[in-house]
Amino acid sequence: MTTSLVVLVSGAGTNLQALIDACADPAYGAKIVAVGADRDDIEALARADRAGIPTFVKQVSQFASREQWDRALADTVAGFEPDLVVSAGFMKLLSEDFLARHTTVNTHPALCPSFPGMHGPADALAYGVKVTGATLFIVDGGVDSGPIIAQTVVPVLDDDTTETLHERIKLAERTMLVDTIGLMASEGWELDGRRVRLG
Ligand code: GAR
Repeated sequence: MTTSLVVLVSGAGTNLQALIDACADPAYGAKIVAVGADRDDIEALARADRAGIPTFVKQVSQFASREQWDRALADTVAGFEPDLVVSAGFMKLLSEDFLARHTTVNTHPALCPSFPGMHGPADALAYGVKVTGATLFIVDGGVDSGPIIAQTVVPVLDDDTTETLHERIKLAERTMLVDTIGLMASEGWELDGRRVRLG
């Protein structure tokens, strides 16, 4: 059985592109049924269009409250009946109500629980760590605090800027995301407390 995915994005969509490319192989076991964004005119939506994947945009500013935005997003996602929602560079927190309706995973450009939030690479660089990386986790009500599914490690180099470090993280992050979503789709997964087991 193919695992259907809704992917949520806010920007360049290189993680989305990696998933689109992986899903082109039927043996991968997953299919992207829709791509949703919290803003218009982003490269991620163009990537989905080029791949022939339905898209939708829900901007917070279009709604009277954050709660209404979140409910509309959850309703629209539900219309595509995904098995899993993948937040891939989606720069909004999702409510407990959304998460109760949709099992959601998120990729974060740091080694959780270190450096949560919007500035993972910059915070890691400023702290002076020698390795950092990316984390795929099941989204809970907190900020990058959910059960960890996979992590990948990259070195921090002496001459790194936030940009060069983030690019190195993103290379590793895309491989981790594609490999792990593929494993979740083909072999299943289970949650035991905070521990996630694949297969
Ligand atoms: C990725 O590195 C992702 O982990 C990060 O934004 C980038 C999106 O890149 N997300 C966060 O920082 C969320 N806290 P992309 O749009 O090219 O996939």
